[in-house]
Amino acid sequence: MAGQEISKDESLSLKGYRHACHVMIYADTEAKLFGKIPIKHIVLMQMRFDGFLGFPGGIVNPREESLEAGLCRELWEEIGMALKVGPEDHCSSCLALSPPDLVTHFYTKKLREEEVREVERAAVSSAADHGLEVMGMIRVPLYCLKKGEGFPSFLSNSFIDSARSQLLAALRVLGLLSQEELEAAVATAKM
Ligand code: APR
Ligand code: MG
Ligand code: MG
Repeated sequence: MAGQEISKDESLSLKGYRHACHVMIYADTEAKLFGKIPIKHIVLMQMRFDGFLGFPGGIVNPREESLEAGLCRELWEEIGMALKVGPEDHCSSCLALSPPDLVTHFYTKKLREEEVREVERAAVSSAADHGLEVMGMIRVPLYCLKKGEGFPSFLSNSFIDSARSQLLAALRVLGLLSQEELEAAVATAKM
């Protein structure tokens, strides 16, 4: 389930709301699982402190910093790297499902495969939040094996707020999975 979509500008004019920004970092890859199943894309998420899957990012304060500057600060804490995410990487803004006074802004950032590996290394070796707010970065399995192992099983996990919807929408909009692949995975997943 996703919260109600709202424009970024309109959301910033709301009184009494807090704002959170999260980003989906991804890359193309030639890697093959078991030497034969093309992985095609690397998509990063994280296991959060609360046991839910989500994207890196967090609470920002638009009165003191731009949304993107706040997101970069959160990324510094959670992945240990000063990754630049700009207004051009913005995808959607939504009123959160809960709490009711939160707007969540979602971004996507394409990197090269080597850069994603660098993010993964920094997340373990340098990030202040590693083992605390963030239990680890993970890659999303985007393939589907015979009995639904892979993406359908992954979707059966518990996600924070609208992170599952954000993931599905981003994969569709960025063309990382086809509409048919997404529908089949959602139909197979235990959600
Ligand atoms: N999509 C939509 N909403 C999300 C997403 C997402 N992908 N990820 C998180 N949220 C919502 C959740 O409701 C979450 O509690 O945004 C809120 C803030 O995001 P966090 O990443 O958890 O914020 P962060 O600043 O990194 O951490 C602060 O410390 O005080 C605790 O519980 C508090 O979760 C908060 C954390
Ligand atoms: Mg944080
Ligand atoms: Mg966070």
